[in-house]
Amino acid sequence: MSFASSLIRGFALLGLLTVSYVGVAHAADATPDAKPYVVKNGDEVDMNTYKGFLYYGDECLRCHGPDGMGSSYAPNLTQALKTMTKVQFETTVMSGIKQVSNSSDLVMPAFGTNPDVVDNLNSIYAYLKARSDGVLKRGHPHHLPGT
Ligand code: HEC
Repeated sequence: MSFASSLIRGFALLGLLTVSYVGVAHAADATPDAKPYVVKNGDEVDMNTYKGFLYYGDECLRCHGPDGMGSSYAPNLTQALKTMTKVQFETTVMSGIKQVSNSSDLVMPAFGTNPDVVDNLNSIYAYLKARSDGVLKRGHPHHLPGT
């Protein structure tokens, strides 16, 4: 009885904490200058950014090249993100680009049905933004413990 009620109180508290945490996270998103990454010493990154590096490697690198630097096929994303907003980035990746006026066959595929990309778009953005802002070096970053 007392165990059950303390269990219930525990869940209620957890719910409360979750709600306040989500509230804080949204407030941070609303700040335009909030950096989506943590980078130390040029190659140590928080877990979210590190995941972005891994998913970039799985899903984007084959066209956009190592480190987001572009290839003969697809543009340099470290340059693109200097002027693109996060929403423009997300829309482009979800819907892709198919230029009807363009006679070449260069296509940015739509990733809207690829859960590896959809569920990790924030991470991929954080990684590419850190590269674009010039704070993260080329190559394989290290995960900062505790982040
Ligand atoms: C099959 C090759 C291919 C893959 C894979 C690919 N892209 Fe692209 N991407 C392109 C091409 C080609 C363009 C340029 C399209 C155009 O402008 O007509 C492009 C354009 C973009 C742009 C717009 C750049 C700008 O300057 O406007 C963004 C952002 C982008 N890609 C992000 C990504 C991300 C993130 C991934 C991985 C989730 C990815 N792409 C995977 C080929 C690819």
